[in-house]
Amino acid sequence: MGKPIILDSVAALRAWREAMRKAGHRVGLVPTMGALHAGHLSLVTGVKTRVDKAVVSIFVNPTQFAPTEDFSKYPRTFESDIKLLSEVGAEAVFAPQVAEMYPDGFATTVSLEGPAKVGLEDAFRPTHFAGVATVVAKLLLQALPDVAIFGEKDFQQLAVIRRMALDLDIPVAILGGATVREADGLAMSSRNVYLTPEERAAAPIIHRTLLEAAALARKRQPLDRIEIEAANALSAAGLAVDYLAIRDAASLAIPVVGADPRTLRILVAAKLGKTRLIDNIAVG
Ligand code: PAJ
Repeated sequence: MGKPIILDSVAALRAWREAMRKAGHRVGLVPTMGALHAGHLSLVTGVKTRVDKAVVSIFVNPTQFAPTEDFSKYPRTFESDIKLLSEVGAEAVFAPQVAEMYPDGFATTVSLEGPAKVGLEDAFRPTHFAGVATVVAKLLLQALPDVAIFGEKDFQQLAVIRRMALDLDIPVAILGGATVREADGLAMSSRNVYLTPEERAAAPIIHRTLLEAAALARKRQPLDRIEIEAANALSAAGLAVDYLAIRDAASLAIPVVGADPRTLRILVAAKLGKTRLIDNIAVG
């Protein structure tokens, strides 16, 4: 398949989108920070089943990284990203510079409650979702796609974005895409490249532990006990657990006692050495 057209300004993105509209094409947006892997590519393939033309944004968004986080060393692999996107047939790539997204004087941030304030990622990365929501609002309004797709890998992020699009009447359908995993169960992530060989060998315990916890939750074992035992299993394998929580999948709130297991989601964040990994799984 041909190379995607590369758009580096909002004006160029809007002109491309307008040309698609005039030609009668439906457009899907896939927001990413690049360093693309099969998980990202599955979102492109997924959105292309719903629309005629896919635009992938590649933008390492500084405002969603805390000063202590990995913004400057986040992997940037633009040339190979473009090659991969050619292979899955993305029609356009939006790759703005930071100054195009945040010109001098930029002063607006989306303020969030609800799924952004449930004591999961927000408890450990307190400024993260404001940065994500602000950049995603900008991308949605810049591209005005018919649909945009986000991975379930970042389950709280997906919930925050769904809520924001609803609350701000952003006229874009938000889709979720299933998590793509390595053969041993590790959820694909651009950050997996940070893992040492030893850490990479240990990492699949996260998915295994989630699978075991989900099986116990389906058997209606007490959720607080499942949470503690699963977190202990990860700690025993050398991971530093930020949280391992069983939540209502829709609201991310703590489930009511006796909740139907099919309404539950198990979410985890843990550090393996210096690398922070997140994952989640449906119970039902
Ligand atoms: P990034 O981490 O690059 O992820 C881009 C999209 O790919 C997100 O929707 C994420 O959930 C999805 N994704 C990541 N790993 C996946 C996997 N293994 N399987 C399926 N989907 C996966 O998430 C972001 O960027 C940013 O926060 C962004 C939304 C682009 C805003 O800056």
